[in-house]
Order: sequence, then structure tokens, then C-alpha cells
Amino acid sequence: MMKTYGHFDDANREYVITDPKTPFPWINYLGNEEFFGLISNTAGGYCFYKDAKFRRLTRYRYNNVPMDTGGRYYYIKDGDTVWNPGWKPTQTDLDFYECRHGLSYSKFIGEKDGVRSELTCFVPKGTNAEVHKLTLENISNVRKKLKLFSFAEWCLWNGMSDMENFQRNLSVGEVEIEDSVIYHKTEYKERRDHYAFFSVNAPIDGFDTDRENFIGLYNGFEKPVAVAEGSPRNSVAHGWSPIASHYIEVDLEPGEKRELVFVLGYIENEKEEKWESKGVINKTKAKAMIAQFDTSEKVDAALLALSKDWEKLLSVYQVSTGDEKLDRMVNIWNPYQCMVTFNMSRSASFFESGIGRGMGFRDSNQDLIGFVHQAPERAKQRILDIAATQFEDGSAYHQYQPLTKRGNADIGGDFNDDPLWLILSVSAYIKETGDWSILDEIVPYDNDESKATDLFGHLTRSFTFTTKNLGPHGLPLIGRADWNDCLNLNCFSDDPNESFQTTGNQMGRTAESLMIAGQFVLYGREYVELCKRRGIKTADSEGHIDAMIDAVKKDGWDGEWFLRAYDYYGKKVGSKENDEAQIFIESQGFCTMAEIGKEEGLCQKALDSVEERLACEHGIVLNNPAFTKYVIEYGEISTYPPGYKENAGIFCHNNPWIIIGETKLGNGDRAVDYWKRIAPAYREEQSELHKMEPYVYSQMIAGKDAFKPGEAKNSWLTGTAAWNWAAISQDILGIKPGYDGLMIDPCISKDWKAYAITRKFRSATYRISIRNPDGVCKGVKSMTVNGQPVDGNIVAAVEPGSSVDVLVTLG
Ligand code: BGC
Ligand code: NOJ
Repeated sequence: MMKTYGHFDDANREYVITDPKTPFPWINYLGNEEFFGLISNTAGGYCFYKDAKFRRLTRYRYNNVPMDTGGRYYYIKDGDTVWNPGWKPTQTDLDFYECRHGLSYSKFIGEKDGVRSELTCFVPKGTNAEVHKLTLENISNVRKKLKLFSFAEWCLWNGMSDMENFQRNLSVGEVEIEDSVIYHKTEYKERRDHYAFFSVNAPIDGFDTDRENFIGLYNGFEKPVAVAEGSPRNSVAHGWSPIASHYIEVDLEPGEKRELVFVLGYIENEKEEKWESKGVINKTKAKAMIAQFDTSEKVDAALLALSKDWEKLLSVYQVSTGDEKLDRMVNIWNPYQCMVTFNMSRSASFFESGIGRGMGFRDSNQDLIGFVHQAPERAKQRILDIAATQFEDGSAYHQYQPLTKRGNADIGGDFNDDPLWLILSVSAYIKETGDWSILDEIVPYDNDESKATDLFGHLTRSFTFTTKNLGPHGLPLIGRADWNDCLNLNCFSDDPNESFQTTGNQMGRTAESLMIAGQFVLYGREYVELCKRRGIKTADSEGHIDAMIDAVKKDGWDGEWFLRAYDYYGKKVGSKENDEAQIFIESQGFCTMAEIGKEEGLCQKALDSVEERLACEHGIVLNNPAFTKYVIEYGEISTYPPGYKENAGIFCHNNPWIIIGETKLGNGDRAVDYWKRIAPAYREEQSELHKMEPYVYSQMIAGKDAFKPGEAKNSWLTGTAAWNWAAISQDILGIKPGYDGLMIDPCISKDWKAYAITRKFRSATYRISIRNPDGVCKGVKSMTVNGQPVDGNIVAAVEPGSSVDVLVTLG
């Protein structure tokens, strides 16, 4: 039996960590709108406004020793003992420790020597701040004289230059202290119209704002000299490293309790309203924000409002199957992770530094399918932002920065799968909302207002981008890479100082992708459907799709599975003719989801090959056999050690493609089995091996060829969340939003007897009860809507506000 580090608390929608020494920091996210914090199970992490690169409030050192050092720390000095509610950084043994990661908040409960502390951190709705409520309670029978020190270290805003430009940084830091508030105003006097502050709703007995004064040059976070000596320095930072630390003396009689509210906030001022007087910042907005949370009651109300919001978001889809792990994935954690990936794309996690990548074009489009049912208005805005980074030929910037919404020119475009994902997100949006007007929105190309068409025009260009970029076999050219960023068939990188992906030594018009071929057929059909509903002729488009299907059957089938690609030299990739990597997952997923060659049995064969060659107990690996040597014409994929990342790792993102492919064939047992292999709630028992958080998906679990199969990496920010949401909610449990209503089309394990789902759809409520008396995997035998039998399996959309009962019998 492996060690676990906590447990799920489904009633409170929390994961409760009971041992602070998790195998890796197990984190959570605060904030759902414009202000965000990353917070570990020891309160480590940082916060930022909109963009982790350009507007970082607090400093965080990745790659630190020990890991996860730096955060929002509260030091409690009780006699000679100093401890923290979240155990770190002092690491003083606690009599009791619990970290409760909930939906957009985290709570740390620590007890030591008769003092109980409870720290709750969250970002209230509509607020650009983290609020920390700290309760200190004397649970002993003697009087306690405690000394409390808060701590946050400011980042000089740009997370990138903060880590490198020390000749400047160490001279520019500026702060102000007024009442109990410490203001961070570095660079405010010139180009920045924003500052940060850290406040507490009580008088303070001292403070520090200069790091070296507070910590001491030779100490670490675990032993700040001011804390050790029990006396703040009242330091005022001038350059060096500004911090914010409040000092408060807390005397507690036995049984007495004290509540304090700290606010770590971000303020923007109009240029003409920046100053109160020369050199003194205008604090009006900060004071207003502080006043919003100056009592515990106000904070509790804000926390309640947040939880009501989540209640509402989650109520869109609630299932009851009798399998508590499945229910908690579907009802709580999978949608929660989908919200986080929607917010962050791949920018800021404990594996993504926040200074590297912005919002990915393909990533954000895919994230949308996991999120659109939760907040369609936000999904709409996201679609318009993404589409505005498309070029006129239909291709796209691969990434854009959330703060500026501009395409990132360092990376550019030429990832040839990118354009097609826009069709996926837009069609998902319309199916969910019935809002066809989005197609008429005028959207620029490359953010240039003078070049614009309606959104539908963008989709047309996405579609035609593929038809205009076909290779020698009539299959789509891959460009720098398709979904698999590491299959770099035109890059030929032999210089360790260059990027594998953006090095274009060869401008190939030969390397072709079977993954994009499947994608084109699948989303091309979606495009055709949209055309039809807009009264646009589709014969040409359908001709292109048919031609693609023929090309796949003719030159994309290897005998037992779909090929992966043709390389720069026109040689097969992912074929039994290859020495290594004879079979890849992506083309099996996309070609089976697109049902190419289903009638001829190609899909079944391909999926049987997946089971035989790629599946293992921890999930389905990406390719097999793993590469053991660098193949320059394939690029980064062959650089990873066998079993890791794109080289035969279980790249969880694409497991659901296979799962969905299985459901197209009615193989419910296999689909459910694959789904469970990677679902975190089912892996909780193996936490010691899995290593990452048991409440969210990781991008990768080491595959069967790895040194340590089953060990995960890169939790949180992965398209895995959205795709698994699609797979379980739509293809397995079978509730599929469609243009005209909800299609009920489950594909489940034969032994599931019955389950029930409440689905809110276009402002109406559908109570769906599914029975499986004959023990089948798939097939709706009969259906009643409000007691009336209906033909087929589509529940037509009903009046907003109404509710319907749907009874479905499989057989
Ligand atoms: C990773 C990919 C990722 C890419 C982003 C690669 O090193 O293996 O998973 O998509 O970097 O640039
Ligand atoms: C992670 C990237 O964010 C995503 O865009 C890519 O498709 C996968 N890795 C596979 O390489």
C-alpha cells in the first residue's frame, strides 16, 4: 500500500492535504478573472495581474533549493518557537496541519503549543487582490503573547527582467508606508501607472520593507533575523529588494481568538491622477479596496459569494453514477481544472515559469471546449481575441500575450494544425449557446483593424489554409509542427543554442501530417455544417474533405494503423518500416474520431493496435517503440529519454482522442477503462509514485519505457483537462450539445446499470436519467421527454427557464 498525503472532501469540494511533505508542491489557483495567485500546500507561490510576465506582484524563484521557497508567509513567534500556519518556511513541526485546497481558495490550518491558526487565501470576485484572513486562537489554558510577522517579497513587475537585470533592479525599488499599509511603487514615477500594496485591518507595531533588514543577508526565509530576534527593524527600502512585512503583537487569553485581514492588492491610476502630492502616490483606490475587506464579516461574505459562483458554474453538469471517483472528477475537479487552463493557458504553473509562454492559439481553442458550458460570455470574448491573432492566409500567431492580446512575433506561426482548432472552438460555442451571431462579429487579422472580416470569414480561411497547403500525397503539410510540438519535420536543428521548433533550416513542402488530415476531416465537416446553416454552397468543401479521406486511405494507412506523417524526404513516419516509433497515438486518435475508413474496419484495427502497442497500466503512450537516438529530421521528439514527454510518455492530452475514437465504435468498456487509467482521482492511491496533485490532470505520466513508469510531471496547465472533459461528459456519459438541442448518446461500460445527470443548457434544466437494463455499451433504445416518447435521441432545446425530464433506455 502506497502512502497518500490527504483525502478528498467532496461535500466541501476540497482536497485536504494532511502531510505538508507532499512529493512535490501540490498547488492551487486563486482568482478567476484578471488577478491570479498560485499557491502551494505550504502557502508558497506568487500573484500577478493578468499576465505573469508583465505584471507580477510578488517574486518567486523557480528552480530554488529547497523547492517552493517564497510565498505569503505568516510567522508566529510564541516564546522561542517560531512557526507558520502552512508549515513552511520555518518547517517547525506542527501539532496539527491541514491544507484545504478548495475552488479558488486555499485554507491552512496549523496548531502549535496551544495556538490554532487558520489562514484562508482567495481573490474576491471583481477584485484585483489576494485577501488573506488569518485567525489566531488560544486553545491552551495559559495566556499567550504572540508576535506576528507577515511577509511578501515584491517583484519589480516584469517577471523576466526581475530575474536578470540586477544592475538596474537593485537601485530602483521604492516603497511608501502609511498607517498599516505598505505600498510598492517601483517605476511608478515614470512609465507605470500602477502600484501594489499589502495592508492589514489593524494597527501595526512595526514593519519592514527592506529584505536584508528583515531577513538578514546570511539567513533564509526559514529564519528571518527580525523574527528570530522578535523585533522589526522598521526599515524603508531604497533600492535593493523591497518587501512588505507587518509586525503585530497579539495577546490572547485562553479561549480568545483574533482575526486579521491582510490584502495584497494591485491598483491602476489614470495618468493625471497618479499623485497625491509630489512623490506621494494617490492611494484613493487602494483605500477603497482595503475598506471593502476591513472586517471578517466582509471577507466571509466575499468568500461565500465565490463559493456561490462555483456552485452555479458546477451546477451546469452534475452526474450521479454511484462511483464516487467518477462523480468527483466530473462534478468538481475536472471542470475546475478546465477553468484554470482557460485562464492561464500554458503560462504560469510550477512547470511553466509565466515568463515563457503566453496564450497558445491551439491551446486556448482546445481549452475552450472544457470551459464554454461554464461561462459562455467569456468564451466568446476569448474566441474573438484568438481569432484576431490570425493572419490573412488563415495561419496564425502560435501565441499571444494576455496583457496586450498581440501575437508573439518571437515565435511566429507556421504550426499548421493551429488554424483548424478555431473551427472546433467556434462550433463548440455555438452548440452550447445557440448564439449564431458570433459568426457575424467583425474580427481583424493580425490585430490590424484595416484588415478584418466577420468571424465566419476567419473560419473559411482556417479551412482553406489546409486545402492550399497540401503535400505530395494530398495530405496536409505539417509546417514547423502540428499538435505535437516536438515532431519537427522541417527544422533539422543541430545547434544546441537554437530552438527545436522555430529553427527552419528547411522550408519543406514535403513533410505531411496524418494528424492534421484527421483534424481537417473532423473539423472540416463541422465547417460544412456551419456553411449549410448559413445557406452557403458546400460542394467544394465537401469535395476537399472526400479527397482528404481518400488520401488517408491511399497513402496514410500502414496496414494495421494510420501512419503519423511523411518526413522532409517523403519517407514514412510511424510505420512498421521504421526502426523506432513505428506507431503514434495522434493519427490513430484523429483519424478514428473522424471515422476515416470505419466501414472498412480501419478504425477498429487502428484502435486494436493502440491497445496492443501503446496502452499500459498508467495510460496510453504516445509512440512505440520509444526513440533511443536523436533523429535530426524528426527533431525534439527524439531528444527526450524513452518514456518521457513526447517520446513515448503518456501524454494525457491525447488519451481522450483514443477514448473518443473508441466510443465512435461503441467500445464503451475500453473507453471507460482508458479514462480511469489517467484520471487523477483513481490514481490517488498511487500518490507516492504519481507525485503530482491527485485532484488535477498532469500533462504527462511516464510511460512504459521510462525509468519510472507511472510518475507524472507538469500538472495543471494541459489540454488534458478540456479533452477529458469532452470525453467523459459528452462521449462516455453521452450528453452532447448540438446546434438544435442535446443529443443523448452514451457509450459506457456494459456493467453500468443506471445513472443520472442534471444538465443546464441554454438557460433550461434537463434532468436526464439513463438506464441500461440490457447491459449494453451503446445505443439508445427509447427515450421519453416529460413522459412523452420521442423518436431518435435528440432532446430539442426548450424555452429558457423551463425544465424537462428525460428518460433514456439503452439497449
Ligand atoms: C515540450 C512540448 C511543448 C513545447 C512548447 C517542448 O519542449 O516538450 O510539450 O509543447 O516545448 O514550446
Ligand atoms: C504542450 C503544448 O502546450 C501544446 O501546444 C502541444 O500541443 C503539446 N505540448 C504537445 O507537444
